[in-house]
Amino acid sequence: QAAPALRIAGAEDVEEWWPRLSAGSEKYNRGVVGIATGSHTYPGAAVLSTAGALAGPTGMVRYAGTARAEVVRAHPSVVGSDSVAGAGRVQAWLCGSGIGTDADARTALHDVLATDLPVVLDADALTMLVDGSAADRLRDRDAPLVITPHDREFARLGGEPGRDRAAAARGLAARMNAVVLLKGDRTIVAAPDGTAWVNPTGTPELATGGTGDVLAGLLASLLAAGLPATRAAVTAAYLHGLAGRIAAERGPVTAPDVATALRDAVATIIQ
Ligand code: APR
Ligand code: MG
Repeated sequence: QAAPALRIAGAEDVEEWWPRLSAGSEKYNRGVVGIATGSHTYPGAAVLSTAGALAGPTGMVRYAGTARAEVVRAHPSVVGSDSVAGAGRVQAWLCGSGIGTDADARTALHDVLATDLPVVLDADALTMLVDGSAADRLRDRDAPLVITPHDREFARLGGEPGRDRAAAARGLAARMNAVVLLKGDRTIVAAPDGTAWVNPTGTPELATGGTGDVLAGLLASLLAAGLPATRAAVTAAYLHGLAGRIAAERGPVTAPDVATALRDAVATIIQ
């Protein structure tokens, strides 16, 4: 049996799917995204994932966690809280990037998964998933879930990606009933129904610490704005790759440069 087609993401897809403003737009109806990332050890991950979210289409970004002070200092428009439970209303959550695996991190993951909202799980949240109880909670959820592993995170969840990365991503997506965004030089997005996309915009300059955190924040913003999970993941990967290319034209690339260039990437596609 032939494998289902692997679609190539294009600017026309992103242009079609990106949520537009209207005269009636208001900060709450544009969507509110919740960011549960970072830690005392990795406050930068919180700042970077929040920067990714701020480049997205939502009207408000809420940050919940131990890097609250750093996040609000870097991004004054963000509303901070100390915990997921105390964050107030959001429409989608990101959990994981740099959050660690201690008791506070486990509580944040538990509380995010206890919601009926779309969720993105990245990095340490995937590590915590591997050992037990959080994985059980996944089976009780109906809301969309997107996981964003790089190869080593993927290996911990489901075995080596191997040579056929699309097949591996499809397999994990079906098993976890989640959209899988498998990061790499050609990032794959696979859905539980076997739909799969490859992102053509990546660039090796993105191979620098923290760019994955920026991607995860943008993706959560797109979910909070109401995009279906697969479209949100394809859109985030496409714009993130484009932002890497734009940043690379300006000089050596660090993750904050990618976050800044995301705005330009959006502007090249959405008029
Ligand atoms: N070509 C194109 N894109 C690339 C390439 C490449 N050669 N290499 C990496 N990327 C992109 C990936 O597709 C992904 O979007 O850069 C991003 C890297 O994301 P992560 O792997 O999540 O790295 P990040 O979390 O930013 O790094 C921080 O966390 O897990 C650790 O080992 C990791 O030290 C790293 C740290
Ligand atoms: Mg990462």
